Amino acid sequence: MRSLSSLLVLVALVILPLAFAVTIPDISPQEARGAYRAVNTTDPDIIKLGQFSVSQHNKEAKKKLVFERVVSGRDALLLLGKYYELIVKAKDESLPTPSAANYKAVLFYKYNPWKTILKLYAFQKIKD
Ligand SMILES: *[C@@H]1O[C@H](CO)[C@@H](O)[C@H](O)[C@H]1NC(C)=O
Repeated sequence: MRSLSSLLVLVALVILPLAFAVTIPDISPQEARGAYRAVNTTDPDIIKLGQFSVSQHNKEAKKKLVFERVVSGRDALLLLGKYYELIVKAKDESLPTPSAANYKAVLFYKYNPWKTILKLYAFQKIKD
């Protein structure tokens, strides 16, 4: 009996954290601190993320930015996905004289067995 209850405790210790990990609704980007890697700015997947951040920002903020390129960026692996910080160059076509500027985009790519979610957390103009 004693070994059975130890087994149950062991099972609980192993299974419960996993169950909680799977039900965490979201992970804040702040948790990515520490394990950053530089991204390859000419990687087609990174370019797609840059384009997504611009089009998503246009929808949310009713802007007319046109993606030009990914200037730099870094990513971090999280438990259930990937965190990205990209510096994106875009031209603001809503200005009388459209001009290009750098923007910082924060994205979270979440893996789910049934569906992956890509979310834009922040998109801000940065001073050059
Ligand atoms: C970056 O990505 C491009 C396109 O996939 C590839 O040609 C290039 O070799 C990569 N550069 C590095 C440093 O991995």
